[in-house]
Amino acid sequence: AKSYEHILTSSPAPGVGLVTLNRPKALNALCSPLILELNDALLAFDADPDIRAIVLTGSDRAFAAGADIKEMKDKTYVDAYKNRFIENWGVLASLRKPIIAAVSGYALGGGCEIALSTDIILASPTAKFGQPEIAIGTIPGGGGSQRLLKTIGKSRTMELVLTGRQFSAHEAERWGIVSKVVREGDGEVVREAIEMAGVIASKSQLAVQAAKEAVNAALDQSLSEGLKTERRLFYGTFATSDQKEGMGAFAEKRQPNFTHS
Ligand code: CAA
Repeated sequence: AKSYEHILTSSPAPGVGLVTLNRPKALNALCSPLILELNDALLAFDADPDIRAIVLTGSDRAFAAGADIKEMKDKTYVDAYKNRFIENWGVLASLRKPIIAAVSGYALGGGCEIALSTDIILASPTAKFGQPEIAIGTIPGGGGSQRLLKTIGKSRTMELVLTGRQFSAHEAERWGIVSKVVREGDGEVVREAIEMAGVIASKSQLAVQAAKEAVNAALDQSLSEGLKTERRLFYGTFATSDQKEGMGAFAEKRQPNFTHS
């Protein structure tokens, strides 16, 4: 694995890529060098034929405590606008392979937004989410106001974004932000995320990517457009060997052997 300063990468299970945010002194605050490394690692996994699902995590204490406040506090409007400040955070949402966020501890501001940009969020009972930007004189800039609203509706989004209060793993689960709150224990949430990623990695990669694309279409498109997108992607699976293998294996009462082709 490549060596980075602010993140760690590994492949803890067949087909699974793991990225661990590793800037403990700043609770994984998302400084620009960290984001550049994160994007580099994510794009490398997305391009790696041996990786079929990605897990993104932090430490037990912090997934990420947000954009780096010390780095941005003196930034000017002109600098932010000219240099497209944090626009490169969008790389995460552009990946074709599925990515699971394993969240323990603080996921605040940009940390919450990074988690919301992944496909599935698993949370430790210790997870503390929030969009606290309002408390430092600004607003979410990494998609928080938009992605929260799509999931939890206007009233809750307004409450969270206007008060900046933290919300718990169980609230996040109840509202549909988090798919599951795992058992308590250090490292538990990463273990479960790796296990889930392993299940996804055992399926046809082509079908998984088509499924992800279909689900995401629902966020951006009208229902009728989304239904057409889903149908086209569904038809497309019939052009793959994996569809023949998957359905053939079912008919022959055996396990499929997907070749991702
Ligand atoms: N940026 C830079 N440094 C940060 C940071 C951040 N977002 N969050 C924590 N740190 C640093 C602290 O400055 C501290 O460093 P020093 O030891 O050098 O002083 C270290 O991490 C440990 O933090 P604390 O001592 O504050 O730890 P705590 O346990 O007392 O509190 C916390 C933890 C509640 C998460 C608190 O650190 C905090 O409120 N952090 C800021 C959270 C925040 O406002 N995030 C939103 C940022 S804005 C944003 O993200 C914009 C966007 O949408 C793109």
